[in-house]
Amino acid sequence: MTETDFILSNYTTKNTSEGSITWKTPSNIALVKYWGKQEPQIPENTSISFTLDACFTLTTLKYKKRNSAQDDFNFEVYFEGEKKDDFKPKIATFFKRIEQYVPFLKDFDFVVESRNSFPHSSGIASSASGMSALALCIMSIEKELNSEMTDVYFNKKASFLARLGSGSACRSIEGELIVWGNHTDIEGSSNLFGVKYPNKVHSNFKNYHDTILLVDEGEKQVSSTVGHKLMYNHPFAQQRFKQANDNISKISEVLQNGDLKQFIAIVESEALSLHAMMMTSSPYFILMKPNTLKIIHKIWEFRAATNSNICFTLDAGANVHVLFPENEKELVNNFIVNELIQYCQENHYICDRVGIGAKQLSNN
Ligand code: DP6
Repeated sequence: MTETDFILSNYTTKNTSEGSITWKTPSNIALVKYWGKQEPQIPENTSISFTLDACFTLTTLKYKKRNSAQDDFNFEVYFEGEKKDDFKPKIATFFKRIEQYVPFLKDFDFVVESRNSFPHSSGIASSASGMSALALCIMSIEKELNSEMTDVYFNKKASFLARLGSGSACRSIEGELIVWGNHTDIEGSSNLFGVKYPNKVHSNFKNYHDTILLVDEGEKQVSSTVGHKLMYNHPFAQQRFKQANDNISKISEVLQNGDLKQFIAIVESEALSLHAMMMTSSPYFILMKPNTLKIIHKIWEFRAATNSNICFTLDAGANVHVLFPENEKELVNNFIVNELIQYCQENHYICDRVGIGAKQLSNN
């Protein structure tokens, strides 16, 4: 599919006066990382992520038909019950970017009400779940105007719109493993939207766990958007994009053959390569904290001592995502509680696992 397939033409808002739509949309954690992009939100390399379950955003979009067509967007934003004018510029930019694909936006007044299942300042990126939730709400309005739309088109366009809000958000529509970015080894893959990993996944990855250790609950020093830009003149950029694309081929084999040792090698290398890009950009920066490194070393010691398949990955922050298979949950949970949570801010951590994707909760 191309961009033009997502342009809505021939529609009428004549029979639609007002309504309210709620979506619950998960966060995701990348196994092979997206870091570096071109306009408009086209990734420099392919990425793949586990969709999560317990970390989600709940967004209600209320819409009301305007009396006459207007030239600007009109919306209010509430986050966890509080009016948030400082969230408006990001949403206005998103609306501007997607307007050509959903031209009915200016026909309505909107109220966006959003809340996260995870603490706001936990350092967990909320843009993936937040932007995908808003994209899905907008798609539900489009579905009202065009009831013939198929579910496949609905999901593809929701992911396409979400990508224009935040790149990783395009991987938060469906589950359990989502690929974003053209890749010869992944059938149906696209730079424009995320697709479900198309091959049969080995049972070792069923119900995979992700316990998120909240090492630093503060705001990030450097946003992902700024980080992506630093890849423009990065001395190692081309090598990094090639490494990630090669890792997609490797992890694709691993997902099918269930080789957990290889899985660990790819996932941990990806996390450290992402942070190595940050440390070698100009300007350089470090998002890991001393406790991030302490946890990584503890995980390595534990793995050597027990032959467990525990491993870690990192987002663009100090928190550590601890990944492990379902059949090790008791062993690893004990280890986390007894040995790792002491390195978390106020002992905070979140038990999550692979999930199946977003869910519409209501449409009135
Ligand atoms: C490190 O999707 O937050 O989490 O497209 O600028 O909104 P924007 O960036 P964003 O970047 C996420 C980067 C990452 C890796 C990943 O999720 O693949």
